[in-house]
Order: sequence, then structure tokens, then C-alpha cells
Amino acid sequence: MENAIVNVQGTFLNRPDEGIIPVFDRSYLYGDSLYEVARTYSGQLFQMKGHLERLEQSARLCKMTLSQTTAFIEAECIRSVEKFYQKKENRHFEAYCRVIISRGHGKIGFGLENLQSPTQFTIIVQPLNAPTKSQWEKGFHYALVDRPRNHPRALAPAMKSGNYLNNLLGHLEARESGAEDALFCDLEGFLTEGSTFNLFYIRNGIVVTSPLEVGILDGITRKITLRAAEKIGLETRITRYPPGRLFEADEVFMTSTIKEVFPVTQIDGKKLGSGKTRGLPGPWTRKLLAAFQAEVCKELGFEKLDPRFQ
Ligand SMILES: Cc1ncc(COP(=O)(O)O)c(C=O)c1O
Repeated sequence: MENAIVNVQGTFLNRPDEGIIPVFDRSYLYGDSLYEVARTYSGQLFQMKGHLERLEQSARLCKMTLSQTTAFIEAECIRSVEKFYQKKENRHFEAYCRVIISRGHGKIGFGLENLQSPTQFTIIVQPLNAPTKSQWEKGFHYALVDRPRNHPRALAPAMKSGNYLNNLLGHLEARESGAEDALFCDLEGFLTEGSTFNLFYIRNGIVVTSPLEVGILDGITRKITLRAAEKIGLETRITRYPPGRLFEADEVFMTSTIKEVFPVTQIDGKKLGSGKTRGLPGPWTRKLLAAFQAEVCKELGFEKLDPRFQ
């Protein structure tokens, strides 16, 4: 946290921990807020357009009128990342950039007549805490939790809101069982996604992932990974599937902005995959990570990622 840059409504805090949220802020009272997490590659913000389009989609889903334009938020993110790199100690870190938008503050009460401010924004930029190479080689161990993912008609998972209690409680349930994180099914028992990531499996050269309609976040990494998969000759299929498929798969992996393409090697204490790579990252997941990073380089106009950044 010491190295973090905090931008509150356009003003940088002198110290990251001195920010104060009004107790009547609706993000605090009701979780009435939205957020996005972007990151840099070789010091450049990646997919800001995608993140800000999703922010607008989240705002539509929760009937929030953003008082800042996305162009303005993007400019503030760039300014905050520049400020982050002005600190010498951050020079060789990739940056994590979180944008939080609260509906605003005012009187207690749900109705919008209680609002006494426009939407309020905060941006936090800090060193990216990405998993290490040795963690990648081990892969993640997940649990299928009992708690279902939020029903899309109740609290749409497509909306990246500040209300993550469904995800958080699933995560805690998974941790209690000794796993690292949670996989959620919907109420009909179809696999949806993880607490903060999308899920895929590969069987016989076909990459499978759940459709948005099952109730998942429209992951930016998911989208790019599907494109990258086709480029390396994998067929892609978007379909509902029961969790049993994961145990018959050749490989299972997750995607997210922070963890990119990451192998999942155990679920509920059972090793996944087959043959020599049972319980280990598989060859397609390895190729997919490289293909994903090639897409990143292409979009940012790099020949390759700068190895000085971690
Ligand atoms: C619930 C959920 N699903 C999926 C993702 C992955 O999305 P992205 O690839 O855009 O980071 C996230 C990211 O935070 C998430 O919170």
C-alpha cells in the first residue's frame, strides 16, 4: 500500500491511507458502486477501452448515470499511472489500476431523491501482485462451492458492482475446505465462473467456456483468450456444462486481468488432466498463455514484453 497512488475526484492524496469516504456514501451504505481493474504491460495500460465499455454496461445494468465521461476517467487513469511511475521504486513494476465509482452520497434511503452529489470516483494504482512462475507451474487448486452464483435476474454477474459478497462468501467457503478459491454453479447446476475469474476446459482440441447468459462477467481476458485459441488452431465452443466435465477434461484453466491464462490443476482435491500432465499445467494452457501475450503485444504495438518489468 505504501507505493500506491490514490486519486480521489481528481486530487492525489499525499499518503494512500489518508483517504476518507463519507459515512453517507452509498458505496459504504449499500455497496451501491461499480468498479474495474485494468493493468499495465511494460508500463502501458492495456484494454482501457474494453474496461470502460464494461463500466458503462455495468452503469446501465444498475441504472447509474455516470457524471464523468469514460474519456475523462481514462485520462485520469493515465495521469494516475504516470504519477505511479514517477516514484523510482515503482519503475520496474507493472501497475494495477482500480477505478471505483460510487453512486454518490446523501441522505439514508434508496430513492435517488436522497442523493446530494453526482457519482464520485476514486482510482488506486499500485504494484501489480501477479502470481509467480513457480505458482503457475503448480496451478490452482479450486473447490466447487455449495453456494450458487448470483442469479442474473437478481444481481447480474455481468455488472461489476462493488457488491461482491456472493463471490467473497464463496471464496471463504472454498478456503475452509483447503482450496485456494471457489468455482460457482448456477441454480440449475451448470458451471458459471470463479470468484474473480472465468473458467475454461479443453477436451480433444476444443476449448469450452460458459456463455454469458449463464450469469458470468464478460471477462476481457476471456474474450481475448477465445480469439487467441482460434489463432493457434483450437476450436472454441461456448456452452453450458455441468462440473463433471472438468474431471474428464484434458486441461482446465482460468482467465483474469491479473492472472492472465492460468492452469487449474486440482478441483475438490482431485487431480485434473490426463497422462503425463495429470495434476500439472497442460501443453495447450502453456501455448494459450503465449498466444494471449502475443495478442497483448500486438494491441500495444510491442515486439515483445519488456523483461525488466515484473
Ligand atoms: C466475477 C469475475 N469474473 C471474471 C473476471 C475476469 O474478468 P477480466 O478478464 O476482465 O479481468 C473477474 C475479474 O475481476 C471477475 O470479478
